[in-house]
Amino acid sequence: MKANRAGRTKVELPFLLLCCSLSFMVGFFGSGLFLQGLPGDGWARRRSMEEAGADEVELPAMPHGLTGESNPALIAFQVLSWKPRAFYFPKFATVDQCQTIIKTAKSRLEPSTVALRKEETVPINNGIRTSSGAFLSASEDSTGTLEQIEKKIARVTMLPIENGEAFNVLRYETGQRYASHYDAFSPDVYGPQESHRVATFILYLTDVEEGGETVFPFENGSNMDIKYDYEKCIGLKVKPRKGDGLLFYSMFTNHTIDPTSLHGSCPVIKGQKWVATKWIRDQIQD
Ligand SMILES: *[C@@H]1O[C@H](CO)[C@@H](O)[C@H](O)[C@H]1NC(C)=O
Ligand SMILES: *[C@@H]1O[C@H](CO)[C@@H](O)[C@H](O)[C@H]1NC(C)=O
Repeated sequence: MKANRAGRTKVELPFLLLCCSLSFMVGFFGSGLFLQGLPGDGWARRRSMEEAGADEVELPAMPHGLTGESNPALIAFQVLSWKPRAFYFPKFATVDQCQTIIKTAKSRLEPSTVALRKEETVPINNGIRTSSGAFLSASEDSTGTLEQIEKKIARVTMLPIENGEAFNVLRYETGQRYASHYDAFSPDVYGPQESHRVATFILYLTDVEEGGETVFPFENGSNMDIKYDYEKCIGLKVKPRKGDGLLFYSMFTNHTIDPTSLHGSCPVIKGQKWVATKWIRDQIQD
């Protein structure tokens, strides 16, 4: 009888510990998940509630200005790096939104080009950038999807919609890539610039089975001292996942180019990669 009870205690103690740590984890991570739900984003709220099994937290609202919003909004993100400043937004867009954007852009795709350097008169691509793409402004999308995404990007970057260029929707097929480059154009290389691209938001529209990562070879200053081969996929890699977003800044707050913002798109090995990219400038775009 005694031995039996002792035996049972042995079973119960680990079980209890497991329960304790599980409920701690639910509370700990669950509260994180939950805070990330965005009021108005029904799906985000439902998902976080299901996963956390918690009730909604009521966040107090503040009287707002004429261009403000009536409620606090929370959008999930993860800091991927401070060097460069790069942030990941899981489930930024819905599957439906992604599919609508692809459908809208599909008929307008053309081979992508790269910017002209000072001494060039015609673009020299040399396989640096092998994707196809289309520039699409929100007003050209009758479904309103690009407008919704644009508004959400403005919220997370906290930069006005008017500073954003049109969306550049890109398709990379097997083997296609974009060698590492900067999104901000250095006047030394490209001549005087009317405005600068300060931030880039990439919305991944598809899952990619293999390859196609966005890569930051100079993350935290790594690989800068070696003779880095711009075609090499080394460094911090961000795997494309349908609906996820990636935001990074190409310039420091003092308005010089951040050398660690160098980035590229690794070749797609298996599958197809679609992204909608928005460049945000320091000047209002017409
Ligand atoms: C980031 O880079 C700095 C400067 O080279 C270095 O001191 C630091 O250890 C690096 N951080 C990590 C986590 O490796
Ligand atoms: C701008 O800021 C960066 C990062 O803080 C710093 O490394 C750089 O020296 C600054 N450049 C100028 C011209 O102030």
